[in-house]
Amino acid sequence: MSAILGTYARRPVSFSHGKGCYLYSTQNEKFIDFVSGIAVNSLGHCHDHLVETIKKQSEKLWHVSNAFEIPEQERLAQRLVDHTFADHVIFMNSGAEATEASIKIARKYFYEKGQPQKNRIITFQGAFHGRTLASLFAANNSEHVKGFGPKVEGFDQVPFGDHEALKKAINENTAAIMVESILGEGGIRVIPDQCLKGLRKLCDEHDLLLILDEVQCGIGRSGKFFAFEWAEISPDIVPIAKGIGGGFPIGACLVNEKAGSGMKPGTHGSTFGGNPLAMSVGNAVLDIILEKGFLENVVSVGHYFEQQLLKLKEKYPSVLEEVRGKGLLRGIKVKVNNVDFLNQLFENKMLAVKAGDNVVRLLPPLIIENKEIDEGVSIIEKVCEKLK
Ligand SMILES: Cc1ncc(COP(=O)(O)O)c(C=O)c1O
Repeated sequence: MSAILGTYARRPVSFSHGKGCYLYSTQNEKFIDFVSGIAVNSLGHCHDHLVETIKKQSEKLWHVSNAFEIPEQERLAQRLVDHTFADHVIFMNSGAEATEASIKIARKYFYEKGQPQKNRIITFQGAFHGRTLASLFAANNSEHVKGFGPKVEGFDQVPFGDHEALKKAINENTAAIMVESILGEGGIRVIPDQCLKGLRKLCDEHDLLLILDEVQCGIGRSGKFFAFEWAEISPDIVPIAKGIGGGFPIGACLVNEKAGSGMKPGTHGSTFGGNPLAMSVGNAVLDIILEKGFLENVVSVGHYFEQQLLKLKEKYPSVLEEVRGKGLLRGIKVKVNNVDFLNQLFENKMLAVKAGDNVVRLLPPLIIENKEIDEGVSIIEKVCEKLK
């Protein structure tokens, strides 16, 4: 029996090391990694620049309290501000903390404006915002919330894609709309550009803040730095995590001037959030992702990947139903059981992960090249051949 509390159904495999798009098991097996720690290892495993950075920083300074100035944090915040819609950034350690901070920031904005009654957030069925209490009840997945009541109040949920229900849900108590720009856990469901534009318009018309959760789809995964950039809109609050740390736990919340205006010293905090070691890694990730041509390459490899998957969909209509996603955030909705499909991929030394709506999620590192995509696709084809 394991000493670890059993909250995960784990595959019986462990890894001793990794490089680029590959993981090596303790049994000396080589796997191609289309999980990337669930959209975390944006630069693959043990990227030279990250290894060098962490070595150097670990010999200088790991942690100081946020009671003091932290130049590495200032630098990462400034770079995020320079490259995005944001005016300010606050750092945490995980995605759930980042979405929770987003909720707090939205409520505080209206409170400080003298409208404390505007404190409810509209969310969408099928979304995922994390496992802390508020983020859990924000998404309100019946399996995830089971047994964890009483319910955390303050969220009004509407069906995904139901414009009428959304409009109806807005009332004098609504502070914000919160949604992932691309639903990850919910089955790689892309919100069409015109709907994101519509959300922005709706928020403007009703004086609401727009929170776009980019924890999974952000930091280059869609081929733009943020997935909402495809729709050419500007949100008010954006929680991020996963890819910004490349494997080091970092979460953050980006805000524009208006949304952040309610937050004063003492209103939020995190012991570890934004410490020098984490921030040096975050800066190193940005060194690569913001390099000229990096995101264009994600778009082009992502497009190639999509084309190959669409060919397989044509060839195996009894197995593959739909190819979804953007950039290197991809999903295939399968007609067989997605767990059976994943098991077969695993047998063939390919790692992928499930998502809602019977989807197999494919999230390779953003540094992947066409030849490694080919390797993954040929394994997917082998599995389709077997399950057809
Ligand atoms: C969109 C989204 N938001 C929030 C989270 C929670 O992030 P974390 O697991 O780092 O708390 C996740 C995690 O999968 C996510 O996909």
